[in-house]
Order: sequence, then structure tokens, then C-alpha cells
Amino acid sequence: LRIILLVGGTSTERYISKLSSKSIYNALNTLGHEVILLDPAYGDNQPTEPEKFFDEKDFAEISNSNYIKCFNRKEFDSADLVFIGLHGKWGEDGTVQAILDLKGVKYTGSKTLASAVTMDKILSKILFDKFNIPTPRWFSFNNCEMSSEEISDKIEKELSYPAIIKPNDQGSTVGLSICRNKNDVKLALSVAKDYSEKILVEEFIPGRELTVGVLGEDALPVLEIKPKHEIYDYECKYTSGMSEYIVPADIPENIAKELQRASLIAFKELECEGYARIDFRLSPENKFYLLEINTLPGMTSLSLVPKMAKAVGMSFEQLIERIIELSL
Ligand code: DAL
Ligand code: MG
Repeated sequence: LRIILLVGGTSTERYISKLSSKSIYNALNTLGHEVILLDPAYGDNQPTEPEKFFDEKDFAEISNSNYIKCFNRKEFDSADLVFIGLHGKWGEDGTVQAILDLKGVKYTGSKTLASAVTMDKILSKILFDKFNIPTPRWFSFNNCEMSSEEISDKIEKELSYPAIIKPNDQGSTVGLSICRNKNDVKLALSVAKDYSEKILVEEFIPGRELTVGVLGEDALPVLEIKPKHEIYDYECKYTSGMSEYIVPADIPENIAKELQRASLIAFKELECEGYARIDFRLSPENKFYLLEINTLPGMTSLSLVPKMAKAVGMSFEQLIERIIELSL
């Protein structure tokens, strides 16, 4: 097939997108597809060398205003499929999906609505509540609506410490903090406010970090992450050796089944397509809480969905081919 691979973009996860896309690019080549790399951030002036697309040190050259120009390029007229290797805003959030729908080009993963809804952590939690999928207790507010004193009071009254403060619509734990007591709230807020108008406050669930990949109609085996830090933060996600991964997770079989079942329900009810990764916390009493759905989960060499696929005997190339099949 003739496949456009979208890489980079302008989100805070630009660098992660480059890592994911490099793995996807290699797999597409191995599978014998014709690959055209495009970085929307470069607009109409795309690099000529593949290596340039994966170069980590180019952030200064790119411009948001170029973005739409990329989608007017002639390569889209002859492509069989667009493989979206982007993460975060303007890539994972439904915007790019809408443009591709308008152009009438097929693409990998979820459509516009599911992408937009799952990128919005608050809206997603409203829906998890509606479909009786357990999720940590929470409240949310708009940036300027509440002072840090009001927020710390509300945490004390309605949740408890430790609590998690995060921007509504980032990935890779960008802008997220854990607050152990009310003294931590002010700093956590100022960090989160840099990334989003809307802020989410959640109770912190002590216990274990688990995740489930969904591929088509099937849930992959549950994977446990054991990060070196208390939370699975940016450093633990993308630095080799900073986390240990166990797949299938060493949890009772009925709990694993419940997690897989909840994952499939969340995936279907929020109208996801193709593939996704669904993140959970498991309390010491084995009670699970769904945190969020990632519609374009990481595909780097440290990433989780490829590890789950491997646990069922699927190579990275086979995983990529399956994602393609599911989008045609
Ligand atoms: N947002 C990152 C890429 C993930 O979900 O893996
Ligand atoms: Mg995420």
C-alpha cells in the first residue's frame, strides 16, 4: 500500500511522536509498504531525508501556522491510507481526523468524535460514570474559577490527600503533579495551568498501575508497570530502565478478566476504533479504577501495546499490519 505516515506535529508530545513514528516507519518498510513521511509542523516545506523527521533537536524551526498546508499536499490524492503517528493536541484529538474525513482519506485508529472525547479527560470521566465504569473520584474547574485555597479545601472535603492535579487534555503525564498535602496545591496548579484552561483533580489511588490494549474487538493481556517513581511519569515512561513491565500482569485471573471487560466496554461506548490503550489503577483491595483511554498509544521501543501484542505472539510488524487491516 501507499501509506502516508504523519509524524511530529506541534503538541507537547512531538518528541514522543518521533520515537513512535520511527518504529512504525521501520515496520512499514519491512512489511513492504511505500511510505511517505509528512510532518504537519513543516507545512509545505517538508524535509527530504527520512532521518530529519526523527531528529529530536528541531523544535525551534517549526510553526503552527504551517499545519494546514501539509494537508493540502498532493501526496494525499494518491495515498491508500494515512497512518497517524502523532500524539496529543492536533493529532490525537480529532482535529487531524476531521481533516482526513473531509479529504476522504482512510486513516488508522479512532474517528473524530472518539478522539476528541477521549482527549478530554473530564468529558471521558463523565461518560465512565454514566456507563458505570469505576474511575477515581474527581472534580474539575476552569483555570481562573477557583483559588488554590478553595481547591485545597475542596480536596480535603470531597477527596483526600494525596490527590492528582492534571491539565484536562495532555498525554504522557505532561503537566501532572501529585499533591501530598495542601502545601503542594499551589505549585501543582501553576504547572497544570500552563497546559490547559481546564484542570482535573482526582483522588490518588494507592496500589498498582495496569494497562490494557484493545485491538479491534479483542482485549490484549493486562500489563503491569512498576515505575521507579511513585507515579508513572514522563521520565519513567521514556527512559530505559526507569520502569519494569510485567505481561501478563501477576494478578488474579478474575481481576484480569474484569479489566479486559471494562476496557472493551469503555472502548465501545466511547466509540473508539482500531486500537487504543486503556489505563487503570488497582487498589490494594483489588478494586480497579479506569483513568483514561489513549486512542493513539505510544509505539516507541519502550511502549506498552507492542509489549502486550508480543505476549500473544504478535511481532511489532504484525501489530502494525493488523492496525492497517482494521482501518481499511
Ligand atoms: N500519550 C502516550 C504517547 C501514550 O499514551 O503512550
Ligand atoms: Mg494518556
